[in-house]
Amino acid sequence: MQTPAVVLTPPTLRTSRLVITELRAEHASVAIPAFAASHILWSRYLASAAGGDSPQVQFEKRLERSIRGWADGSRYSFLALDASTGAFVGDCNLGDIVRGNTWEASIGWRVSIDAEGRSLAFELVQAVCAWAFQPSSHASGVASHAIPRSDVGPNLHRLSAAIMPDNARSIRLAERLGFAFEGTKRALIHIGGVWHDHHIYGLVNHAWTPNPVGP
Ligand SMILES: CC(C)(COP(=O)(O)OP(=O)(O)OC[C@H]1O[C@@H](n2cnc3c(N)ncnc32)[C@H](O)[C@@H]1OP(=O)(O)O)[C@@H](O)C(=O)NCCC(=O)NCCS
Repeated sequence: MQTPAVVLTPPTLRTSRLVITELRAEHASVAIPAFAASHILWSRYLASAAGGDSPQVQFEKRLERSIRGWADGSRYSFLALDASTGAFVGDCNLGDIVRGNTWEASIGWRVSIDAEGRSLAFELVQAVCAWAFQPSSHASGVASHAIPRSDVGPNLHRLSAAIMPDNARSIRLAERLGFAFEGTKRALIHIGGVWHDHHIYGLVNHAWTPNPVGP
């Protein structure tokens, strides 16, 4: 059974090298050139980049989905900027959010071609996972449909990432973050004209207890 969506104010997460916020229209000037430059890195593993949309259209679609997701609590999308230069670093999304009896989400990540190999992806995804597991007032028993605070999270119990078996960098990242291999879904995602198997990696918030409000 699905409980009502938890609508949260998009937070600003800060790490030593990153500022992580929701995607906004003003990010177009830094994101679109980075999307174009990173096409060669992303299109092998990400359907959105392999689909043939221009970087501008990819940005517009992401922005529209991000705004809708934050507004109805169905998806929480984050963009990371370099804290000192303001350059686009990457993004990380929590989607397919299910509450009810599971409190889970899928998680996806990517960094720009200029940011790869500097542990910035680790910094970004670690911050988003920590926020994903952060309790919300909903979980503490306050019935709330809209929570006008940014210091609360969606209180998720479980995150899972689908990674192509040959995506060694992404698998290494997942394992470094504490995700565990859980199995393989066959022909899961259509990328570049081919159905690709994906390994599923899961991260569980062991501190999570069932929502006292109930499903
Ligand atoms: C998957 C992806 C996000 C991984 O990015 P990444 O930069 O390799 O990941 P990390 O942030 O964990 O960086 C790790 C690297 O930084 C290095 N590193 C660690 N600390 C560092 C530091 N202080 N300075 C420089 N490098 C450092 C590590 O040694 C490691 O390098 P290695 O993997 O060659 O050993 C990136 O490859 C990507 O965007 N790929 C395309 C899209 C994609 O596949 N998304 C996932 C779909 S499931």
